[in-house]
Amino acid sequence: MNINEITGGVHYVGVNDRTTDLFEGLWIVPLGVSYNAYVVLGTERTALIDTVDAAHAAELEAKVQGVLRGRALDYIIVNHVEQDHSSALPHIHLCHPQAAIVGNAKTAAMLTGYYGLQEVTTVADGDTIDLGGKTLQFHLTPMLHWPETMMTRCVEDKVLFSGDAFGCFGALNGAVVDRDMNTGMYWNEMYRYYGSIVAKYGVPVKNALKKLEGVELDYICSTHGPVWHDELSRVVATYAALADWQAQPGVVIAYASMHGNVTLMAEHIASELASNGVKNVLLQDLNVSNLSYVLMNIGRFNGLVIGGNTYNTEIHPRVAQLLGTLKMDGIQHRTVGLFGNYTWSPGVTKKMAAALEGLKIDLLDPVEFKQAPATSDLEAASNLARELAARVLA
Ligand code: FEO
Repeated sequence: MNINEITGGVHYVGVNDRTTDLFEGLWIVPLGVSYNAYVVLGTERTALIDTVDAAHAAELEAKVQGVLRGRALDYIIVNHVEQDHSSALPHIHLCHPQAAIVGNAKTAAMLTGYYGLQEVTTVADGDTIDLGGKTLQFHLTPMLHWPETMMTRCVEDKVLFSGDAFGCFGALNGAVVDRDMNTGMYWNEMYRYYGSIVAKYGVPVKNALKKLEGVELDYICSTHGPVWHDELSRVVATYAALADWQAQPGVVIAYASMHGNVTLMAEHIASELASNGVKNVLLQDLNVSNLSYVLMNIGRFNGLVIGGNTYNTEIHPRVAQLLGTLKMDGIQHRTVGLFGNYTWSPGVTKKMAAALEGLKIDLLDPVEFKQAPATSDLEAASNLARELAARVLA
């Protein structure tokens, strides 16, 4: 059994990165991340779909050679120019100077800008390349999550090379296709990947799904994580739900405390939510949780509480980072409660609310308390929890 042959003539040649601490310099990847690339062998011609991070260029080239077995590489298809998929391209092109680099007009300009590559064969939406018994068709899917992103479909084999779409964090562990592995570890990593990187682009995700409606697919080959076959429908449904900001009943309490009173209030709200029947309650300390895990859970649950100290008369920096990210991502369909703590400078919850202005969310009346919480502050927080529970469980 060739574990890397996805279906006849379609081969996995990607690599695993188990050493990078921060993907994109931002997101921790304790389970690693894979950079997926594929070789398609037609009877007449061959194609490499995407490359990998430059640090793994030699490994990719060895795998490509292993699949080609002496045949020439005719095409290098670039579905996405972000460097985790393109920075090995100059090396691969040096190894296969006869191969035509294929992208769309936006791809071409980016490859010139990043690598000085001038000769790019450009394709438009719906164009095809015939490899001999295998037809590659190109589907432009802009802003998923860059302007040049496109997908390539191997028509006869019903294989979609989807770029980052349908991807997840988590390196591969031997097997490549979901049918050959237990995929359990990847589902949370899909929520985390989506929440960190794709969340802002729900509309382009929906546009891409619409474009692919009615196209019969047996395999989705993303640039990160497993190749989806047995669980293809689940992964498409998961991305569709995330793009719509659909969520299950539950509340994330994301807070940043300096000396304990904010933590005390967060714990109090959690207890009150549970008392009011909310079974999914997640407390996340913004001082120690990587933001990606907070975003992962915000993607899953329909309620959110954000709390923090006033810091130098402003919003606590960790809270400000979360609020800014939620604004950037355009979070929708969430009921949100805010609480703030101050010693001498009131008004932080007003600033927090202003940071979320314009979003399609239901913002509850905030709770703001001075120094240690008084009984009346705890009662106000209980009321907030009761209201929030009623809304998320409705
Ligand atoms: Fe995996 Fe947008 O790069």
